[in-house]
Amino acid sequence: MSDIRSSYTDQLQFYGRHTPRELAETFGTPLYVYNENVLRQRCRDLMGLSSHPGFGVNYSVKANSNPVLLRMAREEGLVVDAMSPGELHMDLLAGFTPGQILYISNNNSVEELQNALKHGLLISVDSVAQLDDLGRINKGGKVMIRFNPGIGAGHHAKVVTAGKETKFGVNPEQMDDVFALLQKHDMTLAGINQHIGSLFMEAGGYLDAAEVLLRLAEQLPQGALQNLEIIDFGGGFGIPYRKYEGQPRLDTGELGSRLHALISAWAEKTGYTGRFLIEPGRYVAAECGVLLGRVHAVKNNSEKRYAGTDLGFNVLVRPAMYDSFHDVEIYGENSHEKRETMVQTVVGNICESGDILAKDRELPEIVEGDVLGILDAGAYGFTMSSNYNQRLRPAEVLIQSDGTARLIRRRESPDDLARCLEGLI
Ligand code: LLP
Repeated sequence: MSDIRSSYTDQLQFYGRHTPRELAETFGTPLYVYNENVLRQRCRDLMGLSSHPGFGVNYSVKANSNPVLLRMAREEGLVVDAMSPGELHMDLLAGFTPGQILYISNNNSVEELQNALKHGLLISVDSVAQLDDLGRINKGGKVMIRFNPGIGAGHHAKVVTAGKETKFGVNPEQMDDVFALLQKHDMTLAGINQHIGSLFMEAGGYLDAAEVLLRLAEQLPQGALQNLEIIDFGGGFGIPYRKYEGQPRLDTGELGSRLHALISAWAEKTGYTGRFLIEPGRYVAAECGVLLGRVHAVKNNSEKRYAGTDLGFNVLVRPAMYDSFHDVEIYGENSHEKRETMVQTVVGNICESGDILAKDRELPEIVEGDVLGILDAGAYGFTMSSNYNQRLRPAEVLIQSDGTARLIRRRESPDDLARCLEGLI
């Protein structure tokens, strides 16, 4: 193809037998477009990290929970988590069995815990209080506990999920309380897990934290290690968002060989025969998704040039919420045209000045009628979308392995906005 700025998706043949402008025309914008080959490749990268018999990949579906994508992850051998009844529902729609779903809870009501139990799931609790709650309704059952290893990491303070400054996990210093409650409710500690934060690009920190969890497993009182079936190191595996700057990928070769060596040696040393899980979300889903939008109005306000699109922060909140960077491709009507490069800011159609998708970017001139492709939008894109300003959630399309496009979620309609209303006469 010969669009204005599209070499990244061109080289992947991301849009299969279609052009992005055709897809925008057929399905409308904003539109999430996913590529099956990319998704499957990312699943295989992760499944290949270790050949240890107990090693597995627990896809954290908060990144993207469309059941069509989940089903492909299942076909690639991944299992999944759920942290709400809604995520559990999507996992079940995708055909996962209870043994393939881990319920990683956080501040759940007793009803939610009961719902997960009713479906036969192993539940991870992340506080002593919730261990007690679960114990009361699951006497004699199994439980998993999320520990806070005391070290955190992440691309933004809002996504650091361990360490002293966060709400997550049980402090290992509370081990006596934990074991007193396990005893009180006759429960077995069947698993331990952690998640230190999101988006690391170097293996070191993750492996250090994994070692901390393994040490904790070894030091569990009352020979509890013998009963452990799952040790889950959490997610956080990063992807390079700066595609056009050639940002290097996470070195999965290095990460895999070090992780494999760590868990194999530890299992050998301790006699542990259970599973070792990693829990990535972003790495699985981010790169298979591009968000397409249309440019409706271009203007200069003072010195700044704004490209106004239909991509408000209701469809992709990451830039507004975390100042996240997503690369922008430009698909023009006359694709051979030469355009001058200039500094531009891409904004959406929401009534807030923070509605900025890409700030002060050196890009070929964006003009009205262009279609834009926001790269790496497959994770925490649709799942974090909202109806703010009573805007509609977008449609989702899958480019299948044979290059054809298939609608996997229709666009919302104004009737969908009114669906839950009561009391109108
Ligand atoms: N496990 C647990 C318990 C988690 O809380 C998370 C993410 C994951 C696994 C997966 O983390 P990942 O591999 O995707 O980094 N909305 C933010 C990311 C928030 C992550 C929250 N927890 C973003 O758009 O960057």
